[in-house]
Amino acid sequence: MRDNAQVASLFEPVALGPSTLPNRLAVAPMTRVSATADGLPTARMADYYAQFAHGGFGLVITEGLYTDEAYSQGYLCQPGLANAVQRDAWRPIVAGVQAGGGRVIAQLMHAGALSQGNPHRTGTIGPSAVRPKGSQMTFYRGSGDYAVPAAMTQQDIDAAVAGFAQAAARAREAGFDGVEIHGANGYLLDQFLSEGINLREDRYGGGIEGRLRLFVDVVDAVRAAVGEDYVVGVRLSQAKVNDFTHRWDGEDEAVTIFRTVGGLDVDYLHVTEYEAWQPAFGTGPSLAALAKRHGGKPVLANGSLHDPAQALGMVERGEADVVSLGRGALAQADWPQRVRSGAPLAPFDPAILSPLADLENADRWRAQADYLRPG
Ligand SMILES: Cc1cc2nc3c(=O)[nH]c(=O)nc-3n(C[C@H](O)[C@H](O)[C@H](O)COP(=O)(O)O)c2cc1C
Repeated sequence: MRDNAQVASLFEPVALGPSTLPNRLAVAPMTRVSATADGLPTARMADYYAQFAHGGFGLVITEGLYTDEAYSQGYLCQPGLANAVQRDAWRPIVAGVQAGGGRVIAQLMHAGALSQGNPHRTGTIGPSAVRPKGSQMTFYRGSGDYAVPAAMTQQDIDAAVAGFAQAAARAREAGFDGVEIHGANGYLLDQFLSEGINLREDRYGGGIEGRLRLFVDVVDAVRAAVGEDYVVGVRLSQAKVNDFTHRWDGEDEAVTIFRTVGGLDVDYLHVTEYEAWQPAFGTGPSLAALAKRHGGKPVLANGSLHDPAQALGMVERGEADVVSLGRGALAQADWPQRVRSGAPLAPFDPAILSPLADLENADRWRAQADYLRPG
């Protein structure tokens, strides 16, 4: 039996801007492609999200929600916050998480050139007409190469920014405790950030300042749409879903990124790495530690933190204020309660997301696991 007192620092409340989380444990955003074809979240999704709050997570961050009915959608059956009907369909899900004692933040996502399933448009857009590396993700219903995106015009950029702002306003209306702007993992904002993908010669390209301009525009527009007393966070990563080994240009660039984004009117930075505690650039501090040192805002750290000792280490060393779990939360929605009481943890089985990452597949997996369980 693990001693409860040893993990106590994971269970202390923490403020994210105007909101206080009951503990340091968050569910990381995870796309589950389980909405209706119209992007409406379902009753099954309500159960899925509520279980994390009942299991003791203080914060649930939703999967990436598409923001507009133009180019933002990445995946078929991805849920959205792009219209009033979708907004209203989120209300019971938000209320369910909050009734379980958790806070819930909507992750706002524009897939840009990585879009592989969007009924609203044919073709994709991105900073420049560069075909994304890698191939579409089959567990999100894709196949083959990514399309070559059309280089975004200023009008396209303005529309994408407005989409984020309007989706953020809908999130507030639906009762979400905050929004997280998805600036990580290779999606639109990250495409603008990345040299080699962003070849623009206008104010959105060139040096790091230009490549960060879309972050500035989106944060400013989102903040204007939701007002001051509302949680706004930004997610950042080095790796991309289509390029796991991508790295920023060393610690100096990381410092510039965290100073710039942390200096905006945001309430937290959420950073993700494969293993959150590892040095971000071979030796030296982790990405979370750099974010903490240079961003000046609370930091959520993500990456293989389902090992309680690693999660605890991040918080106790002051590298993160909150840890977020992806696979660990899928393996057990009650990870916090288990860790608090010293109950054993189940390993994550990748079959839960295969062949599709949706909830129906997970239900089938669970039924089979129950069937195979002895006794
Ligand atoms: C099925 C699945 C879907 C994901 N979808 C998203 C997403 O919508 N937005 C996002 O920012 N990250 C997404 N991620 C990344 C996770 O948030 C997290 O960074 C990753 O799982 C690593 O954390 P872990 O080691 O705790 O699993 C996804 C991960 C998984 C496994």
